[in-house]
Amino acid sequence: MIPFLYDRLLKPVLFRFDPEAVHDAFVSMGHGLGKTGAGRGLISALYGYRGPDASVTVDGLRYRTPVVLAAGFDYNGRLLRVLPKMGFGGVEVGSVTALPTPGNDPPRMQRMVRSRAIVVNKGLKNEGVEVIARRLKATPTPEDFVVGVSIARSNREEAAGEREGIEDYARSLEHLVREDVGDFYTINISCPNVHGGESFAEPGRLRKLLARLGKVEHSRPVYAKMPINPPWDEFQELGDVIAEAGLHGMIIGNLNKDYASASFPDEAPDSYQGGLAGLPCRERSTELIARSREHWGDRFTLVGCGGILSAEDAMDKFRAGADLVHLISGMIFTGPHLMGEIAAARAG
Ligand SMILES: Cc1cc2nc3c(=O)[nH]c(=O)nc-3n(C[C@H](O)[C@H](O)[C@H](O)COP(=O)(O)O)c2cc1C
Repeated sequence: MIPFLYDRLLKPVLFRFDPEAVHDAFVSMGHGLGKTGAGRGLISALYGYRGPDASVTVDGLRYRTPVVLAAGFDYNGRLLRVLPKMGFGGVEVGSVTALPTPGNDPPRMQRMVRSRAIVVNKGLKNEGVEVIARRLKATPTPEDFVVGVSIARSNREEAAGEREGIEDYARSLEHLVREDVGDFYTINISCPNVHGGESFAEPGRLRKLLARLGKVEHSRPVYAKMPINPPWDEFQELGDVIAEAGLHGMIIGNLNKDYASASFPDEAPDSYQGGLAGLPCRERSTELIARSREHWGDRFTLVGCGGILSAEDAMDKFRAGADLVHLISGMIFTGPHLMGEIAAARAG
C-alpha cells in the first residue's frame, strides 16, 4: 500500500516541482518530525524496519541495517533523528567543507525522469564544518546508527591550489577530530563540481593529500569516495595509493560524468553540466566493486553506491562484494520504503 501510494500519488505531485525545492522541503520536514516523539513515531510507523535482524558491524561500527544515506542529501546534518526511523543504519553527512560554501549558481539539480537519473551540480553547498560539527555534537542518535562525515575541499577560489586544497581538507578533519564528531570519515576525492576540477583523483596528488591527513591522529575508520569514470588501470592506481596510505575502504562511487550512459541522454539540460546520480551509476559501480574485491581481496571495506533503485540492485552490490550500501536516488525514484526492503532482502 505505502509503495503504491508513493508511486501513484505522492511522486507525481513532487515531480512537478523543482528538485532542489523538494529536497529542501523534505529536509525541513524531516528535521521538524525528528524533533518530536510523535513525529518520529509517525515516520517509524510508515517506514521503520521491523523485519529480522539486519544489523552489521563494519570496521567496529554497528549499523542497525546495512543501508546508509549517501553524502549529498543531509549535507548539513539535520536529519539524524529521523533517519534511524526510516530503515537507515547510518548517514554520511556532507560533504562538508572547511569554509561555508553557497554552492554553484542555480539550477543545481534536474531530474531525468525516463532515465531515472538526477543531474547534480550543487557545488558542495553546505554550512561549513564548524556549524555542522556543532549540530552533530548536539544531536543524540541511537547506538546502532552510524554517523559518518564526508569531507571535501571548499568550493572556493582560495582552496583551488594543491597546497591550499590539502590544508583545506586537513582543517575540516582536524576540526571534526578536535570536536570528537563523526563515527567514520570519508575523503571525497571525486566531487566533479568544484573550482580547480577533480584534482585529487590523481595518484600523485592523492598520495600527498592522504599523507597530510594521515598525520591527524584519531582512531576512526577512513574511506575514500571514488570516481567511477576512470578506466580500471587508473582506478587501480588510486586504490593502491589508498591501500598504501592505510585507509579502511572505498565507497564506489560518486556521480557518473558520462551522459552517454543515461538511457535517454536528451533529457539532460543544455544550459549546464553536472554529474549524474541514479540509474546511470548502477552497472559501473557494481562492476568496480566486483573488480576491487577480486583485486584487493579483503584488504578494503567496500561500500556500494550508485543506482540502487530496488532491493535486487542492492543485493547485486552485496554479491559483488560490498559490505554496506549507500543510496539517495532510490529513495526518490522508488520511495522511502526501499531501505526497509533492502534490509529485509539482506537479512533473509
Ligand atoms: C543532490 C545530490 C548531492 C550530492 N552531493 C554529494 C556530496 O556532497 N558528496 C559526495 O560524496 N557525493 C555526493 N552526491 C553523490 C551521492 O553520494 C552518490 O554517490 C550518487 O548520488 C550515486 O548514488 P545514487 O544513485 O543512490 O543517488 C550527491 C548526490 C546527489 C543526488
